[in-house]
Amino acid sequence: MTTIKKIKSPIEQELKDFEPYFKKSLQSDIPLLGTILKFLYRTKGKQIRPIFVFLSASLHGRTNEFSQLAACSVELLHTATLVHDDVVDESYERRGAFSLNALWRNKLAVLVGDFILARGLLLQLENKKYNFLHLISKAVQDMSEGEILQMKKSRKLDIDDETYFEIIRKKTASLIATSMAIGAASTSDDPELPKKMYKIGQDAGIAFQIKDDIFDYQAKGILGKPTGNDIKEKKITLPLLYVLNNSKASERKRILRLIKRKNKNAEVVKELINLVIDRGGLDYAALKMTEFKDKAVKALMEFDDCEARTSLIELMDYITTRKK
Ligand code: IPE
Ligand code: IPE
Ligand code: MG
Ligand code: MG
Repeated sequence: MTTIKKIKSPIEQELKDFEPYFKKSLQSDIPLLGTILKFLYRTKGKQIRPIFVFLSASLHGRTNEFSQLAACSVELLHTATLVHDDVVDESYERRGAFSLNALWRNKLAVLVGDFILARGLLLQLENKKYNFLHLISKAVQDMSEGEILQMKKSRKLDIDDETYFEIIRKKTASLIATSMAIGAASTSDDPELPKKMYKIGQDAGIAFQIKDDIFDYQAKGILGKPTGNDIKEKKITLPLLYVLNNSKASERKRILRLIKRKNKNAEVVKELINLVIDRGGLDYAALKMTEFKDKAVKALMEFDDCEARTSLIELMDYITTRKK
């Protein structure tokens, strides 16, 4: 059995039930919108966040319709942010297909992203799950702040380690943390559990984004999205940040100048990628990623041993070893 299949095994039924639920939430009678939503459903991703929700829920009790609701909301919000993210990043490939902005242009992608975002929040409201709605809205706010902070840094190129971690905590870890928290809240009344699960999800989410940032420096083809895009967008992520932090002032200046002026030049991007690899930027990032993963695993070990716990621990490993 592959790792991910094994990880999913305690929540097989939940994931099966999730499909029609998610599909239905991506529907509309408005003709063009309906077509685009169908396209999004067809090109759906790994659905790692629903897995986080269901495993966290199973760790504390029996999953139920509220766990489904939580899973559906977070996957909708995730989908919306990717649609917006590709507009912001001017990226034309997603999940092995063209991105919405490539197929239908930015204007439509922005509006469709808004629609899906609204659906994700409305689902909670319709079911009167105000505590979920609160947590999820906070994640949406964090994600926007993270992306804007990142944008500001890519203009000035004055990023440091602390800011890098703040950005990824907000733009990515917040939603994974929220997935864990509302999963737990769907099966337990203990107010402390969602808080604990949030922290674990936050460390897992940071590891998840570091892995994504490492991917951007690796071979194209397996991911279904472009690589080298971060340098093109002047995003300085951990692998490059490490190299900058460990370069002489003159070299640092040279690298920053290249990123500032030649960031869209394919040859320069390639040169910078090779430099990062040669100087151990990816190894360093991998080390940091493992630190966060280990922290999450350690916290999970405090719960009683059960199938869900085993899967969650394996999920942490999967995040850091995955191939896409
Ligand atoms: C991609 O997330 C965006 C990040 C937060 C790094 P995923 O890797 O979970 O994307 P899909 O949903 O599987 O395509
Ligand atoms: C994560 O950042 C995006 C969101 C949290 C929305 P990236 O910009 O690195 O994600 P990819 O690489 O495009 O999937
Ligand atoms: Mg992007
Ligand atoms: Mg990326």
